[in-house]
Amino acid sequence: MKKILITGSTGQIGADLAERLREQYGEDNVITSARGVSADIPNEPLFERLDVTDAQAFYDIAKKHQVDTILHLAAVLSAVGEKDPQLLWHINMNGLQNALEISRELGTALFVPSSIGAFGPSTPKVGTPQVTIQRPTTMYGVSKVAGELMCDYYYLKYGVDTRGVRFPGLISYKALPGGGTTDYAVHIYYDALKKNHYTSFIAAGTKMDMMYMPDAVECIIDLMEADPSRLIDRNAFNVSSMSFDPEELKESIRKVLPDFTLDYDVDPVRQAIAESWPDSLDCTEAREQWGFNPQYDLDAMTVDMLEKLGQK
Ligand code: SER
Repeated sequence: MKKILITGSTGQIGADLAERLREQYGEDNVITSARGVSADIPNEPLFERLDVTDAQAFYDIAKKHQVDTILHLAAVLSAVGEKDPQLLWHINMNGLQNALEISRELGTALFVPSSIGAFGPSTPKVGTPQVTIQRPTTMYGVSKVAGELMCDYYYLKYGVDTRGVRFPGLISYKALPGGGTTDYAVHIYYDALKKNHYTSFIAAGTKMDMMYMPDAVECIIDLMEADPSRLIDRNAFNVSSMSFDPEELKESIRKVLPDFTLDYDVDPVRQAIAESWPDSLDCTEAREQWGFNPQYDLDAMTVDMLEKLGQK
């Protein structure tokens, strides 16, 4: 990667990723972009307002900055998608189609995140293999499976350098997640510091894969910098560094905040989504093909999250 365009850069991943990429690749080589519906348009020198469903605008920005890599993060998440599945399809699929076509025309590499949401109730839940049954029951999942296949297709048919991972729930303190099912595992830390208490919309006993954002950011860099001759697979690699339910997360927080309490007000929509997803992914292929090596386990993440959020 030399000159990088990030779409959806004001989102949860983009906020951390852009900062890390600027450090490594230089400020002049990281172009951030987002639709700009949120109040907080960042004051960044190379920020562009971009609605990824506008093919011409997307192309013009990629061309103008002569980027060699697109990190395509703009997407609607699972819970918001169940409220408006048509909107999700429009943004996630038309945005992706534009990213693929631009990558084909301009010869850029393309990273597209997939998700644990690409799995469904018939997927093996424990030690979920990378190649397995994918019959998701959310529109988010449908778009992720279709996206993985589209990215593979553009690689096989046109030689576009597409690469992707299936991210688990991502936990971070810079920007909030925008309406996913795993968001409880972020909100819990905010409330732990503010109120010493959290009411979870996900039920006790519901395990999901998770990862701390610094590891997720390194994943993107490591995969995009990986020697392509080592990549047997492209879209998409299972990645995860921990798997827990709300009770296990509570216990981890209690090691730092002993009086922290947790109760439940389960949201049936997000609970059903969570139950349709795996408990724990098998990440062997990511480790073997490009050296996936996450650093944070649950307790290390908890200590760092509470410290950083406390400073915030
Ligand atoms: N964190 C996402 C969600 O919950 C999963 O990819 O929608």
